[in-house]
Amino acid sequence: MPATVIIGAQWGDEGKGKVVDLLAERSDVVARYQGGNNAGHTIVADGETFKLHLVPSGILYPGTTCIIGNGTVVDPGALCTEIDELEARGVPLDALRVSGNAHLIMPYHVMLDGAVERKLGRFSLGTTRRGIGPAYQDKAARVGIRAQDLLDPKILVRKLEIALADKNEVLERLFDMPRLDPEAVAEEQLGYAERLRPFIDDTALIVDRALAAGKHVLLEGAQGTMLDIDHGTYPFVTSSNPIAGAACTGVGLGPTRIDSVIGVTKAYVTRVGEGPFPTELDDADGTRMMERGAEFGTTTGRQRRCGWLDLVALRYAVRLSGVSELALTKLDVLSGFERVRICVAYRTREGETLSEFPYHQTVFHGCTPVYEDLPGWSEDITECRSLSDLPPPAREYVDRISSSADVPIRLIGTGQGRHQVIET
Ligand code: IMP
Repeated sequence: MPATVIIGAQWGDEGKGKVVDLLAERSDVVARYQGGNNAGHTIVADGETFKLHLVPSGILYPGTTCIIGNGTVVDPGALCTEIDELEARGVPLDALRVSGNAHLIMPYHVMLDGAVERKLGRFSLGTTRRGIGPAYQDKAARVGIRAQDLLDPKILVRKLEIALADKNEVLERLFDMPRLDPEAVAEEQLGYAERLRPFIDDTALIVDRALAAGKHVLLEGAQGTMLDIDHGTYPFVTSSNPIAGAACTGVGLGPTRIDSVIGVTKAYVTRVGEGPFPTELDDADGTRMMERGAEFGTTTGRQRRCGWLDLVALRYAVRLSGVSELALTKLDVLSGFERVRICVAYRTREGETLSEFPYHQTVFHGCTPVYEDLPGWSEDITECRSLSDLPPPAREYVDRISSSADVPIRLIGTGQGRHQVIET
C-alpha cells in the first residue's frame, strides 16, 4: 500500500474477485487495468452471490471509488446491464468511473470474434466470444471507438463509418454475415451513452489525486499471467497484458507509484479454453476438483479443466510481475485427497528437467510434470481462521508453495464466503 496491484498467477479464475473484495474494504480506489467482460468474479457477500464482469469488485463497499481504466475494453450494452442489475439489488453506483480513453467493444467485434472462432474450427482458441480480441485489434490499428466518443454523436458516426468500411467487407465477403449500417450502430450506442455519460471521466487524474492524498489504491488485473499476450501460452492467450506492469499503462500511472504486487493462485490449477496445460488431470482427481471447486466459468458457464498446482508456472508468474506476496485460494477444495501432488519441474520430450518456464512453445507443448507428493488431509478446513487451525499436512503444503515461490503467503482462502479466509 498505498498502490497495490493484484494479478492472477495462473490462467485466470484464481479467485482474484474475493481477494480484491477483501482488500477493497481497506482501499479508497479500486481500478481495473485490462480485459473486459471476458472476466468474471463471483463474490459471496452476506450470503448473497454477485457475479461481476466489468465493474470492479470494490463496488460492494459504499464509498470506494471503482474505476474501469483506459486499458480495459468496455462493451457498453454489457456494462449497462451490469449497472442495472447492481442497482436493482440496491448497490449504489455513484462511485463508478469509466475512463474516457477506454476502448469500446462494438457489435461487429462480437460478430467477428465468433466468426473467426468458427472458421478456425479445431484450431480455435476457445475465446469467450465477447469481442475482446477484435476490440484490442482496432485499438492497435487506431480505428477503435473510445468511451469519450459516446459523448460526441457526430464523431461517433464518423468513426463508425471509418471502422465499418473495412469490417463490412470482411463480415460480408469472408464470413457471409450482414453488413452493418454505421448510423444504426451509432443510434444503438447513443442509447447506452445516455446511461453511461455520468460515469465517463478522466480516471488517470482521479488515481493520481488519490495517491497524492495518501489514499489506498488497488489495481485489479483480470485473467492471469499465463493468458498474457506477451508472456503467456501464445496464441492461447487473451489480447491484453494481465501482468503487473500493465497496471501502469492500463490506468495511467508510473511504475514508481506502485508499492506491492499480490499474486493470486488457486491451491490447484484450472484453465478454460484451449491450449497446453502440463498438470491437467483427466481422471477422478480432476473431476473431484472440478465438482468440489464448482469449476464452471462465471462468464461462459464452461467447465474448467483442472490439475495439480504447477510451481514452475507459479514461479514464472512471480518473476514476471515482481509479486511481493501471494494469496492462495480454495485450499478447502483439496481436503479429502489422500495425497496432494505438486509439480516442481517439467520434463521435456528429450528427457531434460526444467525448473524454469520454457520460452519456446514447442518445448512447452511437450513438457510433462515432475511431481512431488505430499500427504493429504481429510479435515474440513472451512472454519479455519488462522494458520494454527490448519491440519499439519495443509500447513506443510502452504509452506512448500511459499518456499518454492520465495514469496510469503498472506492470505489463504478456506471457503467461498467473504470471511472464510486466513490472514497470516
Ligand atoms: P478472450 O479473452 O475472450 O479473447 O479469450 C482468450 C482466452 O482467454 C481463452 O482461452 C479464454 O478462455 C481465456 N479467458 C479470457 N478471459 C478469461 C477469464 O476471465 N478467466 C479465464 N480464462 C479467460
